Amino acid sequence: MDTATARPWDGLIVNAHLATLAGDSGYGTVEDGALGWQDGRIVFAGPRAELPGAGETLAVEVVDARGRWITPGLVDCHTHLVFGGDRAGEFEQRLQGVSYEEIARAGGGIVSTVHATRAAGEDGLLAQSLPRARALLAEGATTVEIKSGYGLELDGERRMLKVARRIGDETGLQVRTTFLGAHALPPEYAGRADAYIDAVCAWLPQLHGEGLVDAVDAFCERIGFDGAQTRRVFEAARALGLPVKLHADQLSDGDGAALVAEFGGLSADHVEHTSAAGVQAMARAGTVAVLLPGAFHVLRETKLPPLDEFRTQGVPMAVATDCNPGTSPLQSLRLAMSLACTHFRLTPEEALRGATVNGALALGLADRGRLQPGLRADFVLWDIGQPAELAYWLGGNPAVSVWIGGHRISH
Ligand code: NIG
Ligand code: FE
Repeated sequence: MDTATARPWDGLIVNAHLATLAGDSGYGTVEDGALGWQDGRIVFAGPRAELPGAGETLAVEVVDARGRWITPGLVDCHTHLVFGGDRAGEFEQRLQGVSYEEIARAGGGIVSTVHATRAAGEDGLLAQSLPRARALLAEGATTVEIKSGYGLELDGERRMLKVARRIGDETGLQVRTTFLGAHALPPEYAGRADAYIDAVCAWLPQLHGEGLVDAVDAFCERIGFDGAQTRRVFEAARALGLPVKLHADQLSDGDGAALVAEFGGLSADHVEHTSAAGVQAMARAGTVAVLLPGAFHVLRETKLPPLDEFRTQGVPMAVATDCNPGTSPLQSLRLAMSLACTHFRLTPEEALRGATVNGALALGLADRGRLQPGLRADFVLWDIGQPAELAYWLGGNPAVSVWIGGHRISH
């Protein structure tokens, strides 16, 4: 506050340690820090000693954090959390030795969730999906990306995207929607993949016109769509000025990372099989690598993403849940961070950066992901003694309170 007549801040937390993530590396730790906010934005994030006045008179509400930690709100930049039914039966099949690809080729996998999702009405889909969004929120997620891709017909895709928007309204979460019409070939288009891509490209302007699409994704894979088909979806997105991202090189190297980079894409996701040339293309384009260790874990994969190449080429790495009923029934971004450390040997700091700053980058959002004046007041108060604990504990929930846009969200 500059003058005695200035309006008090809406809120101020004192006696907190901050992990601001403000610089390019490190936690950006501020011991004995304070965080102030007004009108949904951070106005102060720094040492308590540098507050411009006495704490009690600076803000309408003052919270004593009692030495606990504050981080930016977590950003889950890749989920499929709107879907009907579950695939526990398929989980059992895979444990008997049947592969994800074999199940998909036999008409199960994504297509079985398409049947369950089409059968659920909009309200039913919302009721099934809300608990998953609430689980993410309860553990500190403040921004969540949600994809379509289990409707695979215009009405079904629209319903999923509407439910995603409604989840934002119901929970207070910041929701970003992604149109994933090119997720799998629906049975009614068997043998006619190109015709299906024509339909997907025709639906996109309609759904975008209804305000339902923030970005566009595809599944570029042997059991998904090929490079030429993916390119057509990306061209339709580009014609509308929509950003693109891609399920790239998950089960095989299909040059997906280079393709999405060619379109200046926000992110290439999974990327286990991405080649050195793909990493270089991503580095040139500023495309983020979204690591999805939940799918790696559940599918018992062994091929690691090219992590050292991402580091040496300066490709930012994000970490997300990929919450979906097939490859990653994971409803905890903190557990995704833990899996990223254990399976991919990320440091706990890289994992936190991946679920905050770099997750925001993967969504093209420059207004969040760090604790810095001017950014959104999305943050979490944690009952931990050091930030590495966020990726360390398996289970439990150290989140004490979550604020989104300066509003404390009860859960
Ligand atoms: O990110 N690989 C494609 N899509 C999802 C899986 C979706 C599903 O199996 O239902 C993924 O792994
Ligand atoms: Fe996915």
